[in-house]
Amino acid sequence: MPGIRPYERSDIDSVRSICLKTTDMRKKTEVERKAIINTFCNYYVECEPQNCFVAVDDDDNAVGYIICAENYSRYEKNFFEKYYPIIKKCGTFKAMLAKASAMITKRYAGFYPAHMHIDILPEYQRMGLGTQLMDTLVNHLKQKKIRGLMLVVGAKNEKGISFYQKYGFKKIATVSGSVVMGLELM
Ligand SMILES: CC(C)(COP(=O)(O)OP(=O)(O)OC[C@H]1O[C@@H](n2cnc3c(N)ncnc32)[C@H](O)[C@@H]1OP(=O)(O)O)[C@@H](O)C(=O)NCCC(=O)NCCS
Repeated sequence: MPGIRPYERSDIDSVRSICLKTTDMRKKTEVERKAIINTFCNYYVECEPQNCFVAVDDDDNAVGYIICAENYSRYEKNFFEKYYPIIKKCGTFKAMLAKASAMITKRYAGFYPAHMHIDILPEYQRMGLGTQLMDTLVNHLKQKKIRGLMLVVGAKNEKGISFYQKYGFKKIATVSGSVVMGLELM
């Protein structure tokens, strides 16, 4: 039966692959793939592996993940020092999107210091794994006394918005085609 466990270093390729598979990859080039994983994936698994969890199949292969940065200031410093320069080499537009994505959350970081990304392979969706991943991260952050968790979701991602609302996230802002959602933890 699929289950949840802490992220391990050996999960890195699976996590990157899930990140790409759950993005619309039809026309993506190698450079675009590189920009995506450096925008949405690498910081979290490389700099905060202790705040990442995976959903696994019967053979312990990752089929989904939740990855989190617990403190916005630390994320901002490391993201812009280490990952943004790689994204910039992938193109100006990619860099603009990555910067916008990172900066949207900055305004709300006082109330919601942590932010996250969650993705599950299509064949493992709607089985309760997303909820289990959320429960695992939320309990973990509560133990660390983190006051709030936020995320940014595309305004057209009805499935994602419905999932987050059912979990208890509130819409806190809509910014150029994206919705910022937050969950108070304390
Ligand atoms: C969004 C996502 C993480 C949800 O995970 P999941 O394991 O499928 O969700 P769960 O099975 O735990 O569903 C919990 C609740 O969320 C809502 N939900 C989940 N999938 C939904 C869908 N396709 N349509 C509408 N509501 C949905 C439902 O209220 C559901 O409760 P129910 O099954 O009792 O009706 C997963 O579908 C996913 O990875 N999607 C693709 C990538 C993505 O959009 N990630 C978020 C980017 S910000």
